[in-house]
Amino acid sequence: MLDNKKRVKIDTKDQMLKKKFEYIISSTGGFEILSEDDKQPADLLIFEVGTDTDHDFHVIQSLLQSEAVTDIFLTSKKSDQDLLLQSIRIGAKEFFPQPIKDDEVKKALKKFREGPQSSKRIKLGQLINIMGSKGGVGTTTIAVNLAVSLAEIAASKSVALVDMNMATGETPLFLDLRPGYHWGAISKNITRLDPTFIMNVLSKHSSGIYLFSSPGTPGHENVSPEAVERLLNIMRRMFDFVVIDSGQLLDLISQKIHQISDTVLLITILTLPCIANTKKIFKIYDFWGYPRKGKVKIVVNRYLKNSQVTLKDAEESFDHSIFWNLPNDFSTTFAAINQGKVLSAIEPKAEITKKFRRLAATFASKDQKPANKNSSFVKRWFS
Ligand SMILES: Nc1ncnc2c1ncn2[C@@H]1O[C@H](COP(=O)(O)OP(=O)(O)OP(=O)(O)O)[C@@H](O)[C@H]1O
Ligand SMILES: [Mg+2]
Repeated sequence: MLDNKKRVKIDTKDQMLKKKFEYIISSTGGFEILSEDDKQPADLLIFEVGTDTDHDFHVIQSLLQSEAVTDIFLTSKKSDQDLLLQSIRIGAKEFFPQPIKDDEVKKALKKFREGPQSSKRIKLGQLINIMGSKGGVGTTTIAVNLAVSLAEIAASKSVALVDMNMATGETPLFLDLRPGYHWGAISKNITRLDPTFIMNVLSKHSSGIYLFSSPGTPGHENVSPEAVERLLNIMRRMFDFVVIDSGQLLDLISQKIHQISDTVLLITILTLPCIANTKKIFKIYDFWGYPRKGKVKIVVNRYLKNSQVTLKDAEESFDHSIFWNLPNDFSTTFAAINQGKVLSAIEPKAEITKKFRRLAATFASKDQKPANKNSSFVKRWFS
């Protein structure tokens, strides 16, 4: 006989509450309760939102995007309007204020058991690989400020920044973060790569972006290109945008990242050595057979309008159009780095900050996720 029981997972902070849900589910019938470490995808997750709501909602969003779960019921000790609105926005099917009412939960479970399967939501986030044509051209400045600008202009979208400069990464300094975890945690736990593990090793910045930090010390480089591919493929299911600071690396890991990225922003400045290096990088791309030309977008940093080498000269030399330029503004970028702040926090109206916002807008689609008006608790709470 075909077993069509719906698989349900319960994730509550309170063990007594978990037992109560287990009891109600068993007495309703038609469900199989999965243990917390069961890797099978669940049809339904019953999740308790605790005091760190931002973190909890991000965990839920990651689980939905990675398809580890299809639908969610939420419960919480709090039931203020903000929390309810967030629950609607994330697409929760039910919200049970605590103390939970057995009848209400049972009714919702029966409705879920008999209802149609939710359609799968597979939408992969964009992988944006920031690649320097030379050291010191502003790769980290661009990766950090593009990631933050994306979070600022597309508030409902989630953004992660991944620092690939394993031994020399500076992103924690740029963002004034002291991450507890970094690549070291990944190199030792490759078999544990899943959304929950990844969420726990990321650090959240006040702008809303999540940083996958570099240790900034040697000794953690034993990560294989395949592990990095796996990490990024999971992350693109968890986040709308994954921005990667690749430094000037052209090793096997970088090759893999180039292969799977949606866009490569190749950063250059208009000096002859840097132009020569950019051309060499295009030759390397030809040799690899990827990324194809349409995926590579040249960004000229530190651009001066009266530059001896013009943008047109450079385009002719590259045989490739220039996608974007960012003005030369040493004092603002330098102050930002030294204070561990992003450009929008230091000089929100500066030309360079505006150009970052416009650059981010080329990546962010205008459509915002609609609220799930079908959640049955919406009527109950807002009538
Ligand atoms: N648009 C800009 N105008 C003027 N100076 C800039 C600009 N962008 C970056 N800089 C300056 O260039 C220096 C290097 O910046 P950054 O660390 O971002 O470069 P990088 O390419 O990541 O360097 P590294 O090779 O060390 O990783 C910093 O002092 C920064 O202030
Ligand atoms: Mg750098």
